[in-house]
Amino acid sequence: MRTPLVIGNWKMHGTVVEARALTTAIRDGLKRPRGVQVVVCPPFTALAAVSEVLGGSPIQLGAQTCHHEPAGAHTGEVSVPMLAELTCRWTLVGHSERRKEIGESDEVINLKVRAVLSHGLTPVLCVGETGDERRQGLTFNTVEGQLRAGLAGLAGEQIAKTVLAYEPVWAIGTGANATPAQAAEVQGYLRGLLSELASKEIAQTVRILYGGSVKAENADALLAEPEVDGALVGGASLNAQAFIGIVRKAARVGTAGKE
Ligand code: PGA
Repeated sequence: MRTPLVIGNWKMHGTVVEARALTTAIRDGLKRPRGVQVVVCPPFTALAAVSEVLGGSPIQLGAQTCHHEPAGAHTGEVSVPMLAELTCRWTLVGHSERRKEIGESDEVINLKVRAVLSHGLTPVLCVGETGDERRQGLTFNTVEGQLRAGLAGLAGEQIAKTVLAYEPVWAIGTGANATPAQAAEVQGYLRGLLSELASKEIAQTVRILYGGSVKAENADALLAEPEVDGALVGGASLNAQAFIGIVRKAARVGTAGKE
């Protein structure tokens, strides 16, 4: 029903030379992925080169963040039209590393989501609790606050064009992924909120990805959860074989369906 989506978030990894090599390996290894949609998000500096290597491949290009203004005096920033020019059709918004390291607020994240949508790209809004928040029983409060703020003021049809990623901060880059049950619990909660913010019908169409230490070894169990519509992959996306392994598992789910 919802086509599985696998996104590789390369973070601050890879020179242009390395990005070309990784993209070539992923492109050649996947050829014609069926039953799955695949996106790679290289650093800004490699976008043009990766776009060229992807060429007519079904693998799509995404960015890791963007500025909400189309242009202006914002030193060091990159706007959505600039990304679109490089054939980006996606961008992550509100990744926890940007919330924490750059201090991106929910308000700015909302502006970014709107900017991305207004230029016809797809925002992947990231939400997730820290380990402390989970221990204090605040998981649902945290993700609900981030979701409501991130999508504030959006019409139902705009929400229908977004993708969500549930990324528990304690699972990112730690090797300790959320269990399939933990991911499903939060993602089901997020989908309930989408029903309220948009409609039940729209909520059923929005893809909610899981991110946080996804590897080929744990992808099957995570993706088997009806609420998990794909994966946002960090570390494992830097290894072509590991990334391809995850995509293949998602494709199997996408072709066979879930119970
Ligand atoms: P990870 O990162 O797969 O290395 O845990 C995921 C992410 O931050 O998107």
